[in-house]
Amino acid sequence: MPAPGKKKQTVRAIAAQVLLQVSARGHSLTRALAAGQQQLASPADSALLQEMCYGSLRWYYRLDVIVSMLLNKPLKQRDQDIFCVLVIGLYQLEFMHVPAHAVVKETVDVVLALRKHWAKGLVNALLREYQRNAEALREQWQQDDEARYAHPAWMIARLAQDWPQHYQTILDANNQRPPMVLRVDLQQTTVAEYQQQLAEQDIKARASEFVDSAVILEQAVNVHELPGFSRGLVSVQDSSAQLAAGLLQLQAGMRVLDACCAPGGKTLHMLQACPSLQLLALDSDGDRLQQVQENLDRAAVDAELLVGDASKPVDWAGDRLFERILVDAPCSGSGVIRRHPDIKLLRSSTDIETLVARQADILAAVWPLLAPGGMLVYSTCSVFRQENEQQVAAFLQHHADARERPINADWGVRCDPGRQVLPGSHGMDGFYYACLEKIN
Ligand SMILES: C[S@@+](CC[C@H](N)C(=O)[O-])C[C@H]1O[C@@H](n2cnc3c(N)ncnc32)[C@H](O)[C@@H]1O
Repeated sequence: MPAPGKKKQTVRAIAAQVLLQVSARGHSLTRALAAGQQQLASPADSALLQEMCYGSLRWYYRLDVIVSMLLNKPLKQRDQDIFCVLVIGLYQLEFMHVPAHAVVKETVDVVLALRKHWAKGLVNALLREYQRNAEALREQWQQDDEARYAHPAWMIARLAQDWPQHYQTILDANNQRPPMVLRVDLQQTTVAEYQQQLAEQDIKARASEFVDSAVILEQAVNVHELPGFSRGLVSVQDSSAQLAAGLLQLQAGMRVLDACCAPGGKTLHMLQACPSLQLLALDSDGDRLQQVQENLDRAAVDAELLVGDASKPVDWAGDRLFERILVDAPCSGSGVIRRHPDIKLLRSSTDIETLVARQADILAAVWPLLAPGGMLVYSTCSVFRQENEQQVAAFLQHHADARERPINADWGVRCDPGRQVLPGSHGMDGFYYACLEKIN
């Protein structure tokens, strides 16, 4: 619903605002888009708004180069909104195949609504020039790696360094639309039975070849259309994230710490797979912890939820010991860019150092809470080696009572230590896992 008293705007004007919030103000796409949805005159335009925002961010590094090539001189800082309007216009021409006359007219209308009448001629001329010269421009932008791969230069360089054989495939996978993947609660039903229920609702889906609880939808649907969603029969979770619970080798009654749990996808999976766990679900972000509670309530399962900093157990752990610990660490998200294309704009290379330090702090701090003979699973949704195998290798070097338990699996790539799923391989998100056991 539009916020009361707020003037409703056209979907293109809102898309440009969302893009400005992300590109110039550093807001997340999730947050900016949620605010944008409130402004829509018609809720029916919600999917179109989403498509324009996700798409223009997915291809931002290319569209940015093209707009800059077409402008005779850069726009002033205060006119970055016009830049975003142009990016949205080009996205429609290049990727949505909206007829050019409609794009030009609608884009000019947005400029007028922004009360920037001076830009009317500029927008008109620029979009028409793009139409006339798209092929010649393509030859030019293909020389520019940022435009060609639609990623920032530092990410391309880091991926090329970390994955010299795979980086072009990774970059390409990051630019694809991700599938909607479900996790079926195998305590309540089977994948085949659930597929049957989906078929009865005309929802086309196939089972994953690699993850026994995963169902991949042909097209995304609203979760409320999914049979049994409201009672936890099924959850939305990528196949690679569904691997965590199995790697933990949970057994009835075990004491488990989920050290970075929010929004609770893996917490719920663990509890559904093994309902008698004594699970402490910790996260430093109280708002996100609320989402964990909602997730658990939906499936009517229970855990102890705590707001706390995993790198400071002295504040919350007391004398507890756990037989299993999951550290699903805060990370760059470089494995899930296809789901969060704003990561390309919001992350910088210097963030990685900070994240690596935070991950190391968390790992070192929770290790003493692991009971002898217990196992810790470290995971990230990153593909950068520094956050993954280099992180775990450094940990092993400094902890004589830690030993890697190698993951032998038919998914992912063997690392030393751990195992990496590369984005798009078997249709999965990029994810890293390592299993560490504490020597008795
Ligand atoms: C990758 S997400 C976890 C996803 C979650 N395990 C799931 O499957 O839904 C990382 C989480 O770590 C939390 N976090 C970041 N720093 C933390 C810290 N020092 N202590 C505890 N949680 C932290 C973030 O708030 C975020 O919710």
